[in-house]
Amino acid sequence: MDITATSAWQLLQEKWQQTAAMHMRQQFESEPQRFADMHIALPGMMLDFSKNRIDGETIDLLCRLAAEAGLPEKTRTMRSGEKINVSENRAVLHTALRLPTDAAPVYVDGENVVPLLHRELERALAFADSLLDGRFTGATGKRITDFVHIGIGGSDLGPQVAVQALHPYCRNIRVHFVSNSDDANIAQVLGRLNAETTVFCIASKSFGTPETLLNAHAARDWFRTQGHSEADVARHFVAISSEVAAAHQFGIEADKVFAMFDWVGGRYSVWSAIGLPLMVAIGSEAFRSFLSGGHAMDEHFFNTPYRRNMPVIMAMLGVWYNNFYHAGGHTVVPYSHNLRRFPAYLQQLDMESNGKSRKINGEPVDCDTGPLIFGEEGVNCQHAYFQLLHQGTRLVPADFIVPMSSPYRIGRQHRFTVANAFAQAEALMRGKTLDEALLELASLPAAEREMLAPQKVFPGNRPSNMILVDDLNPYTLGMLIALYEHKVFVQGVIWGINSFDQWGVEYGKVLAKAIEPELSGEPCGKHDSSTNGLIDYYRRCHQSD
Ligand code: F6P
Repeated sequence: MDITATSAWQLLQEKWQQTAAMHMRQQFESEPQRFADMHIALPGMMLDFSKNRIDGETIDLLCRLAAEAGLPEKTRTMRSGEKINVSENRAVLHTALRLPTDAAPVYVDGENVVPLLHRELERALAFADSLLDGRFTGATGKRITDFVHIGIGGSDLGPQVAVQALHPYCRNIRVHFVSNSDDANIAQVLGRLNAETTVFCIASKSFGTPETLLNAHAARDWFRTQGHSEADVARHFVAISSEVAAAHQFGIEADKVFAMFDWVGGRYSVWSAIGLPLMVAIGSEAFRSFLSGGHAMDEHFFNTPYRRNMPVIMAMLGVWYNNFYHAGGHTVVPYSHNLRRFPAYLQQLDMESNGKSRKINGEPVDCDTGPLIFGEEGVNCQHAYFQLLHQGTRLVPADFIVPMSSPYRIGRQHRFTVANAFAQAEALMRGKTLDEALLELASLPAAEREMLAPQKVFPGNRPSNMILVDDLNPYTLGMLIALYEHKVFVQGVIWGINSFDQWGVEYGKVLAKAIEPELSGEPCGKHDSSTNGLIDYYRRCHQSD
């Protein structure tokens, strides 16, 4: 189907023409009920979407568009285990990973996957707990103090973000992450370790990602140089992969390989064994709470009318700005130091999922798809790129994510941070008129006032969502991640794309494979002049090696 040909799309186009000039400041003045009508509260989390360039009718039309795009049917198909990732012929069942043990069966190729996924989950949780309580020791009998997770992309970002976010819940094992092939990453981690008390975890669904294998070999080589035998490797190295044989070939025993399933995509896999570093950091009980939070958001998404449905509302507002206002970017701003890597996580989740220009059947898309996602922790971002949000020429919708409490209780820092988040959203919405600017500068000489005042004008009318999290804990973090997963899914349905493959990542990998030998061996000279010049420059830098 061509989404732009639906009646809802046409009506939204008209709606945009009628309302684009409306200012939210006036809407707030004339609609005292606006916040009451435009917020959704769930246990643990609240979304205020009233600071958007919409009225009640816009929401109705956006929900109608979701229905016309077939969202109810597509959601049902995803949940049922049908192979909706058609280009890879795979089911998409990250939601199953959050199901309770007594959930109704979910079949993939005739097999009920619920018992299977719980078996693997229990294995991983039991291993994590055995590290935490000291039952699992290193080869010399010492208690494990450090856990190094080696993976990249979906095999890294989810657990990394979650471990950082849940810092107050972290227990007695230090968890480190190595993802980059730049050796600065692994060098800095290894420099902090004692091999005797370290477990390395190689996380790669394919067990074939070159960055991960490079780091895995570097870790193993280092481990051996610390006086450990090959037999000790088998004790200190574990893997998370769907390729058990490849992990075994690396030296990891089959009972230390935690399974991944082909029906869970990398960027949706933090709920699976890929969450092992989080399990090690916070323990099994807290990890179960993380899963429960994700499941609670699933239940909300699956069972709530679209008008009151958090992921659907957030997704459709994104469509409104992306496709009708032609905003090319979207910023996500956690006012939380512990959520500082959450924007990076969302970049992969959103841009790898919806950065597509072909529809699921291979035809070109009918409209713009995923926006550029970026973000930084508040309040730091206010002293960096927020100038552009306030006074630049582009419309950049924002999501603010603000925990309502802090476990650290240092002075008035948390209250100050929250106040800044609220103030930024208010300023983006209200703006500042020329009259207001002139009034502020009343004490200045007229010429100076006239020159300065226009520069102090803020157009306002800049949209934002405010997501308030009562307390950032395993449960609400689970809700938050699942919220964005579903938002991305809904948008993919609207744009008619496959949100679950990532062919665009492959091409660069292939070219890198060809160039690496040329950096030390014979250059083939068959590239463009720029690439040849870069190879040559590198070689000259290494002439004396
Ligand atoms: O970045 C591309 C990608 O294919 C991601 O989708 C995936 O999460 C990541 O590489 C790592 O893949 P693997 O887990 O197979 O090492």
